[in-house]
Amino acid sequence: AKRIFSGIQPTGVPHLGNYLGAMRQWKQLQDEASSSPGTKLFFSIVDLHAITMPQDAPVLRQRRREMMASLLAIGLNPAKSTIFYQSSVPAHSELKWILDCTASVGYLNRMTQWKSKLAEDNNSLRISDETIENKLKMGLFGYPVLQAADILIHRATHVPVGDDQKQHLEFARQCARSFNSTYPGGDMVSPETITTRSPRVMSLTNPHKKMSKSSPNHSSRILITAPEDEIRKRIRSAVTDSLYAVTYDPQERPGVSNLLDLLSQCDPEAREPEEWARHFENANLGDLKQATADAVVRELAGVRERYLDFLNHKGGRWLTEIEEEGAKVARESADETMRMVRDVVGLSD
Ligand code: TYM
Repeated sequence: AKRIFSGIQPTGVPHLGNYLGAMRQWKQLQDEASSSPGTKLFFSIVDLHAITMPQDAPVLRQRRREMMASLLAIGLNPAKSTIFYQSSVPAHSELKWILDCTASVGYLNRMTQWKSKLAEDNNSLRISDETIENKLKMGLFGYPVLQAADILIHRATHVPVGDDQKQHLEFARQCARSFNSTYPGGDMVSPETITTRSPRVMSLTNPHKKMSKSSPNHSSRILITAPEDEIRKRIRSAVTDSLYAVTYDPQERPGVSNLLDLLSQCDPEAREPEEWARHFENANLGDLKQATADAVVRELAGVRERYLDFLNHKGGRWLTEIEEEGAKVARESADETMRMVRDVVGLSD
């Protein structure tokens, strides 16, 4: 039977990139699972990953809840999916340590994310080796090991993520192999990556970069809870190019192509971006922006209202119940794997 696992950092309300690249597929997989009863789904709000960058405690507390409300608002259903905070299942951290003992530093060193995170934090792409040594923390360096633990501890067969997580998934498979070859009897499951048709949504202000939560420029992204006028305004001011016609060419015309991708993704009939480009052949970019805004507004209709409802419901009491239930089911799932782990490593009688 399929076991689906994915995670998202509680670093603010998700944007259109998170939604189209990952979360919308989580909801689709949940809906499909209704007709294949063996499938289990786990979605984790990875608060331990969030603290690899400095966080203010009250802000993190608030953002965990905002993420929970966001996941419910897009249609994840706690009766069908296990939704939980990573830190409420301590076994994730325990397995992380055990995987640390078979994970290669050389491999981690070649991975790109910690480098770009550090560079981002220092507002520069090039930083000296000395700065790296002083600023790089163990947690950020070992980030992919914790991510591997998240996935392996729930014996995930499929992990739905955006393009930027592919490298982490490759590493998770390597962790499973290393564990299994080090410990006779180890039977970690190797997870498969699944991506959507929009694995990389680009920034609205710099279409050479992906849309991201950490960009200081708010106009670069659209939050899934944005009011309609804000969605329209951000798409209207999206950076394109100075050519008049509409053509689909992600290499040469990333801005225009990103709009066509968004339009295609939010099109109920799922017409391809090339087809939309032909449709707007004799139109101007303003028309394309208008159509894209209409499609995004339609796609996100109701999310904002449901989000606010979940967040404010009885002073948050209902969210608390969902959090407790999710933690309980996730702990049981994790403990099952940990029994195998302790047994083959020699940590149990
Ligand atoms: P995070 O929180 O950065 O992003 C959550 C999901 O959104 C996808 N995504 C995008 N997809 C398309 N276009 C974009 N511009 C875009 N930006 C983000 C990400 O690929 C991701 O799927 N390390 C993970 C969290 C994590 C995890 C895991 C994921 C921790 N443990 C185990 C899967 C399995 C992260 O930081 O995602």
